[in-house]
Amino acid sequence: MGDFSFRKLIFAFVIVTLVWASSIETCNARRGGKHWRQSRGTLSSLYKKKGKNDHGHKKQKSKQEQQQQQPLPTPEEPLAPPPKGSKFNVLDYGAKGDGHSDDTKAFQGAWADACKVEASTMIVPSGYEFLVGPISFSGPYCQRNILFQLDGTIIAPINANAWGKGLLQWLEFTKLVGLTIKGKGTIDGRGSVWWTKSILDDPIDNEEQLVVSSYNTTLTQNPQVSSSSLVGKMPSIKPTALRFYGSFNVTVTGITIQNSPQCHLKFDNCDGVLVYSFSVASPGDSPNTDGIHLQNSKNVLIHTTDLACGDDCISIQTGCTNVFVRDVNCGPGHGISIGSLGKDGTSACVSNITVRNINMHNTMTGVRIKTWQGGSGSVQGVLFSNIQVSEVEFPIMIDQYYCDHSTCKNHTSAVAVSNIAYENIRGTYTVKPVHVSCSDNKPCRDVRLTDIELKPVSKGYHMYEPFCWQAFGELYAPTIPEIDCIQQGAPSSSLDPDEAGCAA
Ligand SMILES: *[C@@H]1O[C@H](CO)[C@@H](O)[C@H](O)[C@H]1NC(C)=O
Ligand SMILES: *[C@@H]1O[C@H](CO)[C@@H](O)[C@H](O)[C@H]1NC(C)=O
Ligand SMILES: *[C@@H]1O[C@H](CO)[C@@H](O)[C@H](O)[C@H]1NC(C)=O
Ligand SMILES: *[C@@H]1O[C@H](CO)[C@@H](O)[C@H](O)[C@H]1NC(C)=O
Repeated sequence: MGDFSFRKLIFAFVIVTLVWASSIETCNARRGGKHWRQSRGTLSSLYKKKGKNDHGHKKQKSKQEQQQQQPLPTPEEPLAPPPKGSKFNVLDYGAKGDGHSDDTKAFQGAWADACKVEASTMIVPSGYEFLVGPISFSGPYCQRNILFQLDGTIIAPINANAWGKGLLQWLEFTKLVGLTIKGKGTIDGRGSVWWTKSILDDPIDNEEQLVVSSYNTTLTQNPQVSSSSLVGKMPSIKPTALRFYGSFNVTVTGITIQNSPQCHLKFDNCDGVLVYSFSVASPGDSPNTDGIHLQNSKNVLIHTTDLACGDDCISIQTGCTNVFVRDVNCGPGHGISIGSLGKDGTSACVSNITVRNINMHNTMTGVRIKTWQGGSGSVQGVLFSNIQVSEVEFPIMIDQYYCDHSTCKNHTSAVAVSNIAYENIRGTYTVKPVHVSCSDNKPCRDVRLTDIELKPVSKGYHMYEPFCWQAFGELYAPTIPEIDCIQQGAPSSSLDPDEAGCAA
């Protein structure tokens, strides 16, 4: 190899090195810029021209300057992540909060940035009313422990165009870990435009359908959200106001959800749910407006909550286990229900549910278990304790013949119901104090009634005596009124609940 070609080689090497080094620099500079923006916590600089102010992020500046003085990381080091706990205010992303402008994009933008930062806060400030269309705060690639600080009001579009052919939810949080929604804000579904025409359909009892089709419902178009006048006919599928799907350790506290078109707050496939100091407010005659709906969710605690709605205050559906509900006011509404379960021959499994310290006022049922004929699976390990009822139509109900229309086919199979305790259930009823109607083939087992004191309040209806059918267990007398229809011991047909296909 001659001297000349050796020099050429050296030269080439130097060039390659320089190019490589400069590309690293560019990369760092770009990342650095992004980092700088995120550490400001906002995109406020972008919006300053429009006269937005800095929304109080100046405090972070000195810290941020320190960070900028530090040398850039060497190529081998991982790039510094944006600072934990950054704040992202929807106003800095162009939200108007005037109740008329469409703020959906601003919410999407703020979420996109909050999502990237562990323990970040997305701020929806007080004193504003944000009109937001259907939106999915989708989390499979988001960091943990994001706080959605909701102090303002979020309102739903009442323009039919915004809902396409119909969506199952309005605001959705999916696949998140440690997400918290907190604040003194309100989510208002403005449901009255949905309630008027469809008193007869009952989508709540079509839950199986709702789960299957939940993925292809995100709007990709740019629907017209912001017309404030009612345009067009609302779709027949009514959205849940706020839904969590496939998430771990989620918390909802402080906020109110009102006037949802359908269910207010729903958790599907979640593990670790905490709801407290929370309210639902909707009229008693709003159709299918469950308060809190749980499905395929476990390790759930709901407490210190006021629920007023047109359907079940709390509905516990298939796949739920380890659910604890305490200190809840319910009414108007349909009470706290397990089910309906086993529709269309499906299998349902619900276990370890505790409901205690509940006040029910003016509800249809009090504490209830409802299953369809023809289902399979089981409900086992339920305690209803300390339930104060006032003018409740049916305070205690187990119904294994649930049917939401006038007649349903008779079937022999049923969701097995066992180990159900009612203790300290007191107050007034308006129709029938106890209705326990169990399957001929799978009688209810181990139903225990203790400290029952229910007195009639006549509202002009016909009053009924306690009713039981195929109900086995224990009655700890005396009760008011006298209940003599619970059969002592176990039914002759022996059923191992584990046979029903639910893991113990
Ligand atoms: C959603 O997906 C289901 C199942 O893949 C399909 O049957 C249905 O038509 C889809 N709906 C829409 C609106 O795309
Ligand atoms: C949820 O919280 C529990 C209890 O604090 C914890 O053990 C569990 O690891 C958390 N789950 C996730 C996915 O972080
Ligand atoms: C039942 O659920 C409660 C929460 O309500 C939980 O503390 C308890 O460990 C669960 N029991 C079993 C046996 O899993
Ligand atoms: C179902 O069974 C009940 C009680 O045995 C009976 O009164 C009713 O007519 C049956 N219904 C149908 C649709 O067969």
